[in-house]
This record gives sequence, C-alpha cells and structure tokens, in this order.
Amino acid sequence: MKFFIDTANVDEIKRAEEMGIIHGVTTNPSLIAKEGRDYRETLREICGIVDGPISGEVKATTTDAEGMIQEGREIAAIHKNMVVKIPMTAEGLKAIRVLSSEGIATNCTLIFTANQALLAAEAGAAYVSPFLGRLDDISEPGVRLIEDIQTIFENYSYATQVIAASIRTPMHVHDCALLGADIATVPYKVLMQMVCHPLTDAGIAKFAREYTDVFGE
Ligand code: E4P
Repeated sequence: MKFFIDTANVDEIKRAEEMGIIHGVTTNPSLIAKEGRDYRETLREICGIVDGPISGEVKATTTDAEGMIQEGREIAAIHKNMVVKIPMTAEGLKAIRVLSSEGIATNCTLIFTANQALLAAEAGAAYVSPFLGRLDDISEPGVRLIEDIQTIFENYSYATQVIAASIRTPMHVHDCALLGADIATVPYKVLMQMVCHPLTDAGIAKFAREYTDVFGE
C-alpha cells in the first residue's frame, strides 16, 4: 500500500517526506484555502517537495466540462507530476475523458458509490477517490465501499488506482490495508498517530533508564 499525505500544509508535507513514508500528495480547495496562500503557487511548492503524484483540484465554482478542461490543462502545466482532480459529475466525466485523451492524469473525487467509481474508470481516470470518512459520518460503512471498488476494478482489470480518501483514524488505514486498497491519502495527524504506541514510548524510557544506570549518560 502506498501513502499519500492529504494536506496543503508544506511544513507537514516536508516532515512526512523526510520520514520516507509518502509517495504523493492530495489537496482539495478547502485544504488550500485553509493555508491562505495563492492556489497555484502552493501546488508548485508542493511539487518541489515530493517527487510523486500531486493532486490539485479544479475550482469548486467551475462546474461545466469546458471550464474544467481549461483549468485542468493549466493545473497540469504547473509540473509533470500534477494530477487534475475532477468532481464526480456528468460534466466531470466529460472533462476526465478529454484530459485523459491528452495524456493528463486525473483523479475523480467525491466518490460515494462503486458505480460512480466504475464510470470514472471507464472515462479514463487514473485515480478514483472514495471518501470513506464522510460515509462513516452518515452511518454508512465507508470501508465496504473501498472493498467493493477494489473488487470491481480487479474483476475488469482496470488500471485506475483506488485512493482511500477522507481517512480520519489509524483504524481506517488498517482496514484499507487489510482489504488491499492501492493507496491511502492520510492527514499528517493520522500518520503521526500511526507512528506512536505507548508501549514503544515506555520501552524507550526503560532502555534509557537501565542503560544510564550502568553506563551513565
Ligand atoms: C482527498 O482527496 C479528500 O479531499 C479528503 O480526503 C477529504 O477528507 P475529509 O472528508 O476529511 O474532508
């Protein structure tokens, strides 16, 4: 399983990159707005930190295929690693089809059913992003959606990769890894929760205490 980091905060991206645990980055309009910086400048800086797929989304106010195609081309021109994130709508599918035919990688976002993922794969999306946390929020099992999409893509040998998105807890990552999700995009906070365990901390403290008791500092 590959990890992407789900943030537009460059400090968090640098820290995760230094640990050697991330292969890419996903952003969305909310995450970039939270940083209060220029949209494209932020994406350009992220491309200089991580050498892997970087998802940048078309503006949430652009809803027609023509507009998404135009913006998608501009986002793709920022850097060779840019992946254009397009929302799952009929217009979005048209844009995915055109951008994919031009060799521009797309990530179809806001996926909440396996059928939506299937359509995005047919249109040529390189990635689909099912939002498992937001399904859990409304008492629908998000992990089951990831499992269904993985199975369907395997049934038909789609090259489209599944990015388990809207991950809120280490348990989400654990469940997605068990069922073979291609990629999980994980917030920095959850990555750090995955690193830590109280018994690891206690073990380090005990080793340090027993070592210094005999050998000193
Ligand atoms: C990533 O592609 C998504 O934009 C992100 O995971 C959404 O997460 P949220 O549901 O916690 O906002």
